[in-house]
Amino acid sequence: GVQNLKAVRGNFLDVTRTISHPEEIESALRFIEDGLLLISEGKVVWFGSWEEGKSRIPETIRVRDYRGKLIVPGFIDTHIHYPQSEMVGAYGEQLLEWLNKHTFPTERRYKDPEYAREMASFFLKQLLRNGTTTALVFGTVHPESANALFEAASNINMRMIAGKVMMDRNAPEWLLDDAESSYLESKALIERWHKNRRLLYAITPRFAPTSTPEQLAMAQRLRQEYPDTWVHTHLCENKDEIAWVKELFPERKNYLDVYHHYGLTGKNSVFAHCIHLEEEEWDCLHDTDSTIAFCPTSNLYLGSGLFNLQKAWRKKIKVGIGTDIGAGTTFNMLQTLNEAYKVMQLQGYRLSAYEAFYLATLGGAHSLGLDSYIGNFDIGKEADFVVLEPTATPLQQLRYDNSVSLMDKLFVMITLGDDRSIYRTYIDGQLVYERT
Ligand code: GUN
Ligand code: ZN
Repeated sequence: GVQNLKAVRGNFLDVTRTISHPEEIESALRFIEDGLLLISEGKVVWFGSWEEGKSRIPETIRVRDYRGKLIVPGFIDTHIHYPQSEMVGAYGEQLLEWLNKHTFPTERRYKDPEYAREMASFFLKQLLRNGTTTALVFGTVHPESANALFEAASNINMRMIAGKVMMDRNAPEWLLDDAESSYLESKALIERWHKNRRLLYAITPRFAPTSTPEQLAMAQRLRQEYPDTWVHTHLCENKDEIAWVKELFPERKNYLDVYHHYGLTGKNSVFAHCIHLEEEEWDCLHDTDSTIAFCPTSNLYLGSGLFNLQKAWRKKIKVGIGTDIGAGTTFNMLQTLNEAYKVMQLQGYRLSAYEAFYLATLGGAHSLGLDSYIGNFDIGKEADFVVLEPTATPLQQLRYDNSVSLMDKLFVMITLGDDRSIYRTYIDGQLVYERT
């Protein structure tokens, strides 16, 4: 018999397969009005219509009945900094000044393990109350920061990828490691946390300007020793940043070529922003099967520029959505998609509700190489999901009553939604957040 069966009833929406062009999305969409999800040991064991599935429910089991709500796969945030939660909305400045003035002093505090633990707990609660069940996360330079985060995520068996930042130049000395210590500390963290239950490790050089060539070579060595880890960094976010990289690495063809030279491109390498890419960089991202994290609220907030999602589709490069807290201004994926829509409006591209939904769920999972584990309700997938309340406010109720199609209702949820739209969050089949 199936152990500890859990039964969830409601309207379900997910995307059944990965796509290579937005036009394919509609045919990959699965909406089940009055559906049933059966979960055991944290995994989906059956999914389909209530009528077809109800006979499978043992009499002793209480059905979680969410009819009237919309149940979707948990949201996936492909780029976020947990040690910047306390500095969201820091006033003024673009990227490089913002780092010096606001970010580095904030991150300094994470040397203290007790502070890191407190903030890791706060951070995870923010993710859950926003329906985010998986994230790719930056720590600080301090191994204490990564340990605190992994410990907190481990307590709820969350699928999370994270890493300690590697940075050995061009920042205050109290925030620097060195090539050797960054190697040894990262290695110890990989040994402790990578593939520890659902946790995964990302080798995390902050960005090219804060790493010496020696440190990048150490990142390369880690990648070679642990080829199934992730790589997580920033790329082509801001024009001054790009000019600086060209000064620091004159022998490299372009910004991405710095990472590529050190073997840091490839499947499961995730590059945040990618706003101002040269043609060769687009091609290199494609040829190496690397991933882009599109962070609309951050790109607008820091005045960095507009990411060209349409071109990424054309070049067949995987894209996920990132909130990029604390340059980003919300933990909420609905709000982030709302801003993504506007970023694309400014470029004459219409981001559909379904495409947006795909990017935040199965597309995000695919962009992180996790689509065989998470991203939809296929049997065998990990049971991470969100119960959305489409009518959480009077305006949402009014607008909902005036929308006809599913596409319309979903789009309204993206445009008007926020953390009030998140009614329940489940991770590993367990209820981990309830709106009060
Ligand atoms: N580039 C290097 N570090 C950072 C950071 O912390 N935030 C953002 N948005 N860009 C970066
Ligand atoms: Zn970032």
